[in-house]
Amino acid sequence: MTHFLSILDLTRGDVEEIFAAAARLKTQQKRGEPHHLLQGRTLAMIFEKPSLRTRVSFEVGMFQLGGHTIHLAPETVQLGVRESVSDVARNLGRWVDGIMARVFHQATVEALARASGVPVINGLSDREHPCQALADVFTLSEHGFDPKKTRLAFVGDGNNVCHSLVLLAGLLGMTIVVSSPNGFEPDLDVVQRARALGASVELVHVPVEAVRGADAIYTDVWTSMGQEAEREKRVRAFQGYQVNRALVAHAKPGARVMHCLPAHRGEEITDDVLDGPQSLALAQAENRLHVQKAVLVRLLGRHV
Ligand code: CP
Ligand code: NVA
Repeated sequence: MTHFLSILDLTRGDVEEIFAAAARLKTQQKRGEPHHLLQGRTLAMIFEKPSLRTRVSFEVGMFQLGGHTIHLAPETVQLGVRESVSDVARNLGRWVDGIMARVFHQATVEALARASGVPVINGLSDREHPCQALADVFTLSEHGFDPKKTRLAFVGDGNNVCHSLVLLAGLLGMTIVVSSPNGFEPDLDVVQRARALGASVELVHVPVEAVRGADAIYTDVWTSMGQEAEREKRVRAFQGYQVNRALVAHAKPGARVMHCLPAHRGEEITDDVLDGPQSLALAQAENRLHVQKAVLVRLLGRHV
Protein backbone atom coordinates (compact mmCIF):
# COMPACT_ATOMS: atom_id res chain seq x y z
CA MET A 1 0.00 0.00 0.00
CA THR A 2 1.83 3.10 -1.21
CA HIS A 3 -1.19 5.31 -1.92
CA PHE A 4 -4.78 5.20 -0.76
CA LEU A 5 -6.78 6.31 -3.79
CA SER A 6 -9.38 3.58 -3.73
CA ILE A 7 -10.60 0.73 -1.55
CA LEU A 8 -9.06 -1.40 -4.33
CA ASP A 9 -5.61 -0.33 -3.07
CA LEU A 10 -6.21 -2.46 0.03
CA THR A 11 -6.21 -6.17 0.78
CA ARG A 12 -8.41 -7.71 3.42
CA GLY A 13 -5.26 -8.03 5.57
CA ASP A 14 -4.56 -4.29 5.18
CA VAL A 15 -8.07 -3.49 6.39
CA GLU A 16 -7.69 -5.78 9.40
CA GLU A 17 -4.36 -4.17 10.30
CA ILE A 18 -5.74 -0.65 9.84
CA PHE A 19 -8.72 -1.45 12.08
CA ALA A 20 -6.46 -2.95 14.77
CA ALA A 21 -4.15 0.09 14.64
CA ALA A 22 -7.13 2.47 14.70
CA ALA A 23 -8.49 0.76 17.81
CA ARG A 24 -5.07 1.05 19.54
CA LEU A 25 -4.67 4.69 18.53
CA LYS A 26 -8.19 5.46 19.71
CA THR A 27 -7.48 3.95 23.12
CA GLN A 28 -4.19 5.85 23.40
CA GLN A 29 -5.88 9.10 22.50
CA LYS A 30 -8.74 8.56 24.99
CA ARG A 31 -6.23 7.76 27.75
CA GLY A 32 -4.19 10.83 26.93
CA GLU A 33 -1.11 8.74 26.08
CA PRO A 34 1.23 10.47 23.62
CA HIS A 35 1.63 8.63 20.33
CA HIS A 36 3.87 10.86 18.25
CA LEU A 37 4.47 8.36 15.49
CA LEU A 38 4.70 11.03 12.79
CA GLN A 39 6.91 13.55 14.59
CA GLY A 40 8.29 16.04 12.11
CA ARG A 41 6.14 14.78 9.23
CA THR A 42 4.03 17.08 7.11
CA LEU A 43 0.81 16.37 5.20
CA ALA A 44 -0.38 18.77 2.50
CA MET A 45 -4.16 18.85 2.16
CA ILE A 46 -5.50 20.01 -1.21
CA PHE A 47 -9.21 20.85 -1.42
CA GLU A 48 -11.14 21.46 -4.63
CA LYS A 49 -14.41 21.27 -2.66
CA PRO A 50 -15.64 22.26 0.82
CA SER A 51 -15.14 20.06 3.88
CA LEU A 52 -15.67 19.97 7.63
CA ARG A 53 -15.00 16.40 8.76
CA THR A 54 -12.21 15.54 6.33
CA ARG A 55 -10.26 18.70 6.95
CA VAL A 56 -10.60 18.69 10.73
CA SER A 57 -10.07 14.96 11.24
CA PHE A 58 -6.88 14.92 9.14
CA GLU A 59 -5.61 18.08 10.79
CA VAL A 60 -6.33 16.89 14.34
CA GLY A 61 -5.01 13.43 13.48
CA MET A 62 -1.65 14.72 12.21
CA PHE A 63 -1.38 16.99 15.27
CA GLN A 64 -2.04 14.10 17.67
CA LEU A 65 0.61 12.06 15.82
CA GLY A 66 3.17 14.83 16.32
CA GLY A 67 3.04 15.93 12.69
CA HIS A 68 1.84 18.99 10.85
CA THR A 69 -0.64 19.82 8.07
CA ILE A 70 -0.85 22.52 5.44
CA HIS A 71 -4.35 23.37 4.27
CA LEU A 72 -4.48 24.36 0.61
CA ALA A 73 -7.87 25.87 -0.22
CA PRO A 74 -9.26 25.71 -3.77
CA GLU A 75 -8.36 29.31 -4.59
CA THR A 76 -4.78 28.86 -3.33
CA VAL A 77 -3.66 26.06 -5.63
CA GLN A 78 -6.22 26.20 -8.46
CA LEU A 79 -5.25 22.68 -9.50
CA GLY A 80 -4.89 22.43 -13.24
CA VAL A 81 -5.73 26.12 -13.71
CA ARG A 82 -2.87 28.11 -12.21
CA GLU A 83 -0.54 25.16 -12.60
CA SER A 84 -0.85 21.60 -13.91
CA VAL A 85 -1.68 18.80 -11.50
CA SER A 86 1.67 17.15 -12.13
CA ASP A 87 3.61 20.38 -11.51
CA VAL A 88 1.77 20.90 -8.24
CA ALA A 89 2.52 17.28 -7.28
CA ARG A 90 6.20 17.49 -8.20
CA ASN A 91 6.66 20.64 -6.11
CA LEU A 92 4.76 19.35 -3.09
CA GLY A 93 6.74 16.12 -3.21
CA ARG A 94 9.94 18.13 -2.58
CA TRP A 95 8.61 19.50 0.74
CA VAL A 96 5.98 17.28 2.30
CA ASP A 97 5.78 13.63 3.33
CA GLY A 98 2.26 12.98 2.07
CA ILE A 99 -0.69 14.56 0.27
CA MET A 100 -4.39 14.25 1.02
CA ALA A 101 -6.60 15.57 -1.76
CA ARG A 102 -10.33 16.16 -2.17
CA VAL A 103 -10.97 16.48 -5.89
CA PHE A 104 -13.62 16.50 -8.58
CA HIS A 105 -12.11 13.73 -10.66
CA GLN A 106 -10.56 10.43 -9.59
CA ALA A 107 -7.98 11.02 -12.37
CA THR A 108 -6.66 13.97 -10.36
CA VAL A 109 -5.68 11.90 -7.31
CA GLU A 110 -4.18 9.34 -9.68
CA ALA A 111 -2.12 12.07 -11.40
CA LEU A 112 -0.98 13.43 -8.02
CA ALA A 113 0.11 9.93 -7.03
CA ARG A 114 2.04 9.39 -10.28
CA ALA A 115 3.94 12.66 -10.09
CA SER A 116 4.48 13.51 -6.43
CA GLY A 117 6.82 10.76 -5.24
CA VAL A 118 5.02 10.76 -1.85
CA PRO A 119 1.94 8.85 -0.64
CA VAL A 120 -1.39 10.30 -1.76
CA ILE A 121 -4.70 9.79 0.04
CA ASN A 122 -8.08 10.27 -1.63
CA GLY A 123 -10.16 12.55 0.60
CA LEU A 124 -13.16 12.19 -1.76
CA SER A 125 -13.48 12.21 -5.53
CA ASP A 126 -16.38 11.73 -7.95
CA ARG A 127 -15.64 8.03 -7.84
CA GLU A 128 -14.86 7.13 -4.23
CA HIS A 129 -14.62 8.22 -0.61
CA PRO A 130 -12.42 5.43 0.73
CA CYS A 131 -11.54 7.01 4.12
CA GLN A 132 -15.24 7.33 4.81
CA ALA A 133 -16.02 3.69 4.02
CA LEU A 134 -13.15 2.49 6.24
CA ALA A 135 -14.43 4.59 9.15
CA ASP A 136 -17.98 3.33 8.53
CA VAL A 137 -17.16 -0.37 8.61
CA PHE A 138 -14.82 0.19 11.58
CA THR A 139 -17.80 1.81 13.34
CA LEU A 140 -20.00 -1.17 12.53
CA SER A 141 -17.32 -3.53 13.91
CA GLU A 142 -17.08 -1.48 17.10
CA HIS A 143 -20.83 -1.87 17.50
CA GLY A 144 -20.56 -5.65 17.31
CA PHE A 145 -21.19 -6.27 13.62
CA ASP A 146 -18.94 -8.85 11.98
CA PRO A 147 -18.79 -7.73 8.32
CA LYS A 148 -19.21 -11.32 7.09
CA LYS A 149 -22.52 -11.59 8.91
CA THR A 150 -23.73 -8.06 8.25
CA ARG A 151 -26.38 -6.95 5.80
CA LEU A 152 -26.06 -3.28 4.95
CA ALA A 153 -28.78 -1.48 2.98
CA PHE A 154 -27.66 1.62 1.10
CA VAL A 155 -30.68 3.73 0.16
CA GLY A 156 -30.16 6.62 -2.24
CA ASP A 157 -27.64 7.77 -4.81
CA GLY A 158 -25.11 5.22 -6.10
CA ASN A 159 -22.39 7.81 -5.52
CA ASN A 160 -18.77 8.00 -4.33
CA VAL A 161 -19.63 6.91 -0.77
CA CYS A 162 -21.77 4.05 -2.09
CA HIS A 163 -18.95 2.92 -4.41
CA SER A 164 -16.40 2.72 -1.61
CA LEU A 165 -18.84 0.85 0.64
CA VAL A 166 -19.66 -1.62 -2.15
CA LEU A 167 -15.94 -2.27 -2.77
CA LEU A 168 -15.18 -2.62 0.93
CA ALA A 169 -18.10 -5.03 1.25
CA GLY A 170 -16.39 -7.02 -1.50
CA LEU A 171 -13.09 -7.13 0.37
CA LEU A 172 -14.65 -8.11 3.68
CA GLY A 173 -17.45 -10.40 2.52
CA MET A 174 -20.24 -8.11 3.70
CA THR A 175 -23.67 -8.23 2.07
CA ILE A 176 -24.75 -4.88 0.64
CA VAL A 177 -28.09 -4.10 -0.95
CA VAL A 178 -28.27 -0.83 -2.86
CA SER A 179 -31.61 0.79 -3.55
CA SER A 180 -31.51 3.69 -6.01
CA PRO A 181 -33.91 5.16 -8.54
CA ASN A 182 -33.45 4.29 -12.20
CA GLY A 183 -30.38 6.00 -13.58
CA PHE A 184 -28.79 6.60 -10.16
CA GLU A 185 -27.42 3.12 -9.50
CA PRO A 186 -23.74 2.62 -8.59
CA ASP A 187 -21.44 2.21 -11.61
CA LEU A 188 -21.69 -1.28 -13.02
CA ASP A 189 -17.92 -1.78 -13.11
CA VAL A 190 -17.72 -1.02 -9.37
CA VAL A 191 -20.45 -3.58 -8.69
CA GLN A 192 -18.66 -6.12 -10.89
CA ARG A 193 -15.32 -5.50 -9.15
CA ALA A 194 -16.95 -5.98 -5.75
CA ARG A 195 -18.68 -9.16 -6.88
CA ALA A 196 -15.38 -10.47 -8.26
CA LEU A 197 -13.90 -9.89 -4.79
CA GLY A 198 -16.66 -12.03 -3.33
CA ALA A 199 -19.29 -9.52 -2.24
CA SER A 200 -22.94 -10.20 -2.35
CA VAL A 201 -24.11 -6.95 -3.97
CA GLU A 202 -27.81 -6.72 -4.66
CA LEU A 203 -29.36 -3.86 -6.61
CA VAL A 204 -33.05 -3.16 -6.08
CA HIS A 205 -35.25 -0.19 -6.83
CA VAL A 206 -37.74 -0.39 -3.97
CA PRO A 207 -36.23 0.87 -0.67
CA VAL A 208 -38.46 -1.35 1.49
CA GLU A 209 -37.02 -4.41 -0.27
CA ALA A 210 -33.49 -3.23 0.42
CA VAL A 211 -33.98 -2.63 4.12
CA ARG A 212 -35.87 -5.84 4.86
CA GLY A 213 -33.62 -7.88 7.17
CA ALA A 214 -30.92 -5.19 7.18
CA ASP A 215 -28.64 -4.75 10.20
CA ALA A 216 -27.91 -1.18 9.17
CA ILE A 217 -29.30 1.36 6.72
CA TYR A 218 -26.97 3.88 5.12
CA THR A 219 -27.88 6.98 3.22
CA ASP A 220 -26.11 10.02 1.79
CA VAL A 221 -27.19 13.25 0.09
CA TRP A 222 -29.08 13.04 -3.20
CA THR A 223 -27.05 15.94 -4.61
CA SER A 224 -23.32 15.60 -4.07
CA MET A 225 -20.85 18.46 -4.16
CA GLY A 226 -20.46 19.59 -7.76
CA GLN A 227 -23.95 18.42 -8.80
CA GLU A 228 -25.82 21.48 -7.51
CA ALA A 229 -27.18 22.32 -10.99
CA GLU A 230 -29.06 18.99 -10.96
CA ARG A 231 -30.58 19.53 -7.54
CA GLU A 232 -34.23 19.96 -8.59
CA LYS A 233 -34.12 17.03 -10.97
CA ARG A 234 -32.54 14.88 -8.27
CA VAL A 235 -35.00 15.85 -5.54
CA ARG A 236 -37.79 14.76 -7.90
CA ALA A 237 -36.08 11.49 -8.87
CA PHE A 238 -35.38 10.51 -5.25
CA GLN A 239 -38.92 10.95 -3.91
CA GLY A 240 -39.70 7.78 -1.94
CA TYR A 241 -36.02 7.20 -1.06
CA GLN A 242 -36.05 9.06 2.25
CA VAL A 243 -34.76 7.20 5.28
CA ASN A 244 -37.50 7.92 7.80
CA ARG A 245 -39.12 6.09 10.68
CA ALA A 246 -41.53 4.22 8.42
CA LEU A 247 -38.68 2.85 6.29
CA VAL A 248 -36.48 1.98 9.27
CA ALA A 249 -39.39 -0.04 10.72
CA HIS A 250 -38.92 -2.55 7.87
CA ALA A 251 -35.32 -3.36 8.90
CA LYS A 252 -34.27 -5.62 11.77
CA PRO A 253 -35.45 -4.35 15.16
CA GLY A 254 -32.94 -1.79 16.45
CA ALA A 255 -31.19 -1.61 13.06
CA ARG A 256 -28.49 1.04 12.94
CA VAL A 257 -28.78 4.10 10.73
CA MET A 258 -25.70 5.53 9.08
CA HIS A 259 -24.87 8.76 7.26
CA CYS A 260 -21.47 10.12 6.26
CA LEU A 261 -22.66 13.73 6.78
CA PRO A 262 -23.22 16.48 5.86
CA ALA A 263 -26.94 15.66 5.73
CA HIS A 264 -29.63 17.48 3.82
CA ARG A 265 -32.15 17.06 6.61
CA GLY A 266 -35.70 16.51 5.39
CA GLU A 267 -34.46 15.18 2.03
CA GLU A 268 -32.60 11.85 2.27
CA ILE A 269 -33.14 11.52 6.04
CA THR A 270 -35.46 12.90 8.69
CA ASP A 271 -34.28 14.65 11.86
CA ASP A 272 -35.80 12.06 14.19
CA VAL A 273 -33.91 9.21 12.50
CA LEU A 274 -30.60 11.05 12.11
CA ASP A 275 -30.68 12.26 15.71
CA GLY A 276 -32.34 9.14 17.14
CA PRO A 277 -30.88 6.34 19.25
CA GLN A 278 -30.25 4.04 16.26
CA SER A 279 -28.06 6.60 14.47
CA LEU A 280 -24.31 6.01 14.22
CA ALA A 281 -23.61 9.23 12.30
CA LEU A 282 -21.52 10.93 14.97
CA ALA A 283 -19.63 7.74 15.80
CA GLN A 284 -18.78 7.49 12.09
CA ALA A 285 -17.60 11.10 12.07
CA GLU A 286 -15.44 10.52 15.16
CA ASN A 287 -13.94 7.36 13.72
CA ARG A 288 -12.73 9.23 10.65
CA LEU A 289 -10.07 10.57 13.01
CA HIS A 290 -8.93 7.24 14.41
CA VAL A 291 -9.03 5.27 11.16
CA GLN A 292 -7.24 7.97 9.17
CA LYS A 293 -4.52 8.16 11.82
CA ALA A 294 -3.94 4.46 11.25
CA VAL A 295 -3.78 5.05 7.48
CA LEU A 296 -1.39 8.00 7.94
CA VAL A 297 0.97 6.02 10.17
CA ARG A 298 0.97 3.19 7.64
CA LEU A 299 1.71 5.45 4.68
CA LEU A 300 3.88 8.15 6.21
CA GLY A 301 5.61 6.54 9.15
CA ARG A 302 6.56 3.40 10.92
CA HIS A 303 4.01 0.71 11.71
CA VAL A 304 2.05 0.61 14.96
N1 CP B 1 -18.10 13.01 5.45
C1 CP B 1 -17.25 13.94 5.00
O1 CP B 1 -16.32 13.67 4.26
O2 CP B 1 -17.50 15.21 5.47
P1 CP B 1 -16.86 16.56 4.91
O3 CP B 1 -17.40 16.76 3.52
O4 CP B 1 -17.33 17.62 5.87
O5 CP B 1 -15.37 16.43 4.90
N1 NVA C 1 -21.58 12.18 -1.70
C1 NVA C 1 -21.22 13.35 -0.94
C2 NVA C 1 -20.35 12.98 0.21
C3 NVA C 1 -19.91 14.12 1.08
C4 NVA C 1 -19.00 13.70 2.18
C5 NVA C 1 -20.54 14.35 -1.85
O1 NVA C 1 -19.73 13.92 -2.69
O2 NVA C 1 -20.82 15.54 -1.75
